[in-house]
Amino acid sequence: MINIGVLVSGRGSNLQALIDSCESGYVDGKVVVVISDKKDAFALERARNHGSSATFLDSNGKTREDFDDEIAKELDNHNVDLICLAGYMKLISKPFVKKFYGKIMNIHPALLPSFPGLHGQKDAIEWGAKISGCTVHFIDEEVDHGPIIMQAAVPVDEDDTEDTLAKKILEKEHKIYPKAVKMFAQGKLRIDGRRVIIGGDSGYLF
Ligand code: GRF
Repeated sequence: MINIGVLVSGRGSNLQALIDSCESGYVDGKVVVVISDKKDAFALERARNHGSSATFLDSNGKTREDFDDEIAKELDNHNVDLICLAGYMKLISKPFVKKFYGKIMNIHPALLPSFPGLHGQKDAIEWGAKISGCTVHFIDEEVDHGPIIMQAAVPVDEDDTEDTLAKKILEKEHKIYPKAVKMFAQGKLRIDGRRVIIGGDSGYLF
């Protein structure tokens, strides 16, 4: 059973998917602490409703490194084995990445390395992509860049808007994030350079 810490900034639907998959036993883990840099993030309410510790940390007036130090202390206090970024909008400092390398995951709403950044769904539509999707990856020092754990594909239809595509992608996010965490908890994931080797499981969903 692993202890999971989740960093959030917003509504927390991926957090909810992770909590649900722990509660149902799909993932052998527990979301022990949820940390938000936004005081009114709905994700904090979701955490409280499920008995996870819910912490708001204010980044105002702090350097990125100092703020990440505070986060690291809170995570260490809860003995977390895995950190999941779930709609967390702040950039992560290099020392934080170093300290937890191989133990921090993120979910991104596009098929990386295509369309990194804040507008994955809009960028895919504007580029004319016919297939997009989502990616769970380990964090490294560059944004939306680290070794890929799982990807799911989603068709882009001609009448898709940013919102409709985001909705289709989100459904898949809620499937592959728990699956990636499940595989981590089972000790199946091994990082080999840019690649994540998954012992006998699959890293894709269509
Ligand atoms: C998701 O689309 C995720 O891929 C991106 O931010 C969004 C967070 O949504 N990183 P939620 O807060 O999990 O509902």
